[in-house]
Order: sequence, then C-alpha cells, then structure tokens
Amino acid sequence: RPGTVDAELPSRTRVLVVGSVNIDDAVRVPRFPGPGETLGARSSDTALGGKGANQAVAAARAGAAVRMVGAVGTRDGSAVLGALDADGIDTEGVARLDDLPSGRAFVFIDDRAENSIVIVPGANHAIPEAAVREACRALRPGEVLLLQNEIPAATSRLAARLAREAGATVVWNAAPAPEGLQELIEGHDLLLVNEHELDRIATLLGATDNSPSVHPGSATSRAAGPQGGAGSAAQAGTGSAPTTATGGSPHGEPTAIALSGNDSRTDPAAGSSAGAASGADPAATGSARSVESLLTAVASATGGDVICTLGAAGAAYRVGGVFGRAAARPVEAVDTTAAGDTFAGYFAALADLPLPRRLRRALDAASLAVTRPGASPSIPARAEVEALEP
Ligand code: ADP
Ligand code: NA
Repeated sequence: RPGTVDAELPSRTRVLVVGSVNIDDAVRVPRFPGPGETLGARSSDTALGGKGANQAVAAARAGAAVRMVGAVGTRDGSAVLGALDADGIDTEGVARLDDLPSGRAFVFIDDRAENSIVIVPGANHAIPEAAVREACRALRPGEVLLLQNEIPAATSRLAARLAREAGATVVWNAAPAPEGLQELIEGHDLLLVNEHELDRIATLLGATDNSPSVHPGSATSRAAGPQGGAGSAAQAGTGSAPTTATGGSPHGEPTAIALSGNDSRTDPAAGSSAGAASGADPAATGSARSVESLLTAVASATGGDVICTLGAAGAAYRVGGVFGRAAARPVEAVDTTAAGDTFAGYFAALADLPLPRRLRRALDAASLAVTRPGASPSIPARAEVEALEP
C-alpha cells in the first residue's frame, strides 16, 4: 500500500505524529451571520486539516517517513485518510470509529478576510490508547515523536512517556496554547511555539529569568518515568546524534516541566497578561518580557530546547543553552493558515541537518506556505524549498 513506510530508505528520518485529523470546511461569506440569520455563502472548500495531519503532511513533504496515530469517523473519514495516503503517510494507526464523526473545523472567512472558526473535536477526542501504545513502543532512538495540542493531554502524555522510554526524541508543538497546567506535556526534548504560546507557557510555569532551574519536587515524570530523557538538549537541537535512554537534560535531570507554576484556573491573578507570574520580578513579566528572556526561562523550567516562531520576523530559539535568531524570507502573505504546522513538520523531519540549515529550511517552507491559500494544500514539497537555497 502506498502509505507503508519504506524500509529500504533508512536515511529518512522517521516521524510519528500522534494528533488531530480534521475535515476543514472553509466557507466564504460576505459577513458573519447574526443570531437567527440564514446567509448564502460565496463559496466553500473542503480539505484535510487538523494540526496533527497538517504536520504529518509537512514532515512527509520534507522527506521523512511518517506514521500517523489518530482517529476519524468511519462514515466521513475516508477522504481525509485518502489525502494522508496520497502524501505517503502510513495511516495504519489512524482508528476508524463507528460512533463518532471525524473532527471538523468550520472556518468562516468574510469579505475583510477576518475568520471565525468552530471546531468539533469528534473522533480526535477518542483516540484508542492501544494504537498509541503500539506505535510509541515501536519507536527507536533517532526517531521523532511529534505532538500538538488538539487531542486530550492524557493521550499526548502517554505517547511522550512511551516514546521517551523507547529512546526517541519528543517534539511538542504547544498549539493551540495550553489553557492550564494539565495541558502541559512533560519530558519533551524540544518545544515549538509561537509568541503567544511562549508567553502562555511561561506564565503557566511561573517561569522567569530569576527561576532558572527545574522547580524542586515538582516533576512528576521524575518518579514515574525512566531515568534520563530521550537525549540531551544539544542532541535534540542538532538531531545529529542518536538519542539514548541514559541521556538527560543539561541539569542532569530528565527533561520535565515544573508543575509548581501558576495555573489560571486556580490563580485569580493569572487571567491578565501583566503580573500573571506572581512573585516574579515585575520587570520580567507581562508584555515587557522579551522573547529572549521568555525562551531562557521556559528552557530552564522544562530542561529542553525551545524554538519560537515570530511570523514575518522568523524565529528565535534557545537550543543547547544557546540563544539565537533566524530571519524569515520576505514574502507576500496571502494566507498564514498552516504556517506554524509547516514549520513544525519540516523541523521535526530534518533531524539529520545541523541547526542553522534545519532552521533555514523549516522557515523557508513556512514562508512558502503563507504565499498560498489553505492549510495542507499550501504546504510546499522539499524540492520547492531546496530550490530557494543557494
Ligand atoms: P503561527 O501561524 O503558528 O502563529 P507564525 O505566525 O510564527 O506561526 O509563523 C510560522 C512561520 O511561518 C514563521 O516563522 C515564518 O517562517 C513563516 N511566516 C509566517 N508569517 C509570515 C510572513 N508574513 N512572511 C514571511 N514568513 C511568514
Ligand atoms: Na497557507
């Protein structure tokens, strides 16, 4: 079958995505309908979507051998499964559920290009644990598990723990932004975020430059998980070294999220952006916090590497303890849908490249995606991205 991973190409990075698969219905409307109103659409378009599926497509187009674990409805899922197959993604681990619809995103786009979105999680919230266990236990050192935030956190946490035990590298794209501490995934090697998500996670963790170490006694994964993470921060950053079960964070601890931070659900002060990190240096909180200080704080609190995409400004990172920036290619943006997904899928797939080239290619791929309408259809193929390189 076309989706089967080709065992004859051992040099391709193997990426397992455990995440969402959606049917995206993009409906163009003159304006958003009011209560009780019926409105005629200008046009509509249905395509494969969901951050998990988009990132699987991006990783496959980047050249990786990709497997997907998720769930769709039996009645309505065949078209999206077909779209994944068409990109050579192994969908054996995508469950077909009889009693639930596929996840769906209803995207209304008005004449001012504003959008308004309703998401139906559907089968995405019922991914069978057995499929997660089977795929994650089969991971090997050097392989990558790629997670997002559109499936239950318990499912992602299970996947991350098993992948770590198997010696694989865990990459977590924390999008959409976590609402509470219970949505944070412990023990990842690399965190991919945009500015809003970085700020949110720093706030949840109470992370500032003044709290540079893992919060003592707070990492539940330390007791539950194996000793050692899935590789050092430097390994995760360059992706050049195979990971080992005995690796650890630069602090000699398994990578783990400090769970003693602020949770907006229990901390009434955490709702507003400024001063949300109670007890923190006031200069380091709120919108005044620089991307560099936020990256430093979050990297310290989690023990892993962090990359923050900055839209047209490219990306900033803290990888292997080193801060840096990379510019985006200037383009005329048409539709930024799937920009972050393209970056995440490409970056995860290019684990064999040194950091500067890996960043360059993932940024270029994302910038190409914003020049085209739609989600997965806008994700470029590897050859298009390589053609931009000198
Ligand atoms: P998200 O869509 O997740 O919020 P960003 O807006 O940070 O993510 O965009 C992700 C990447 O997409 C950027 O790092 C950049 O490479 C590319 N990108 C996004 N917007 C633009 C733009 N206006 N011009 C050029 N590149 C862009
Ligand atoms: Na796009």
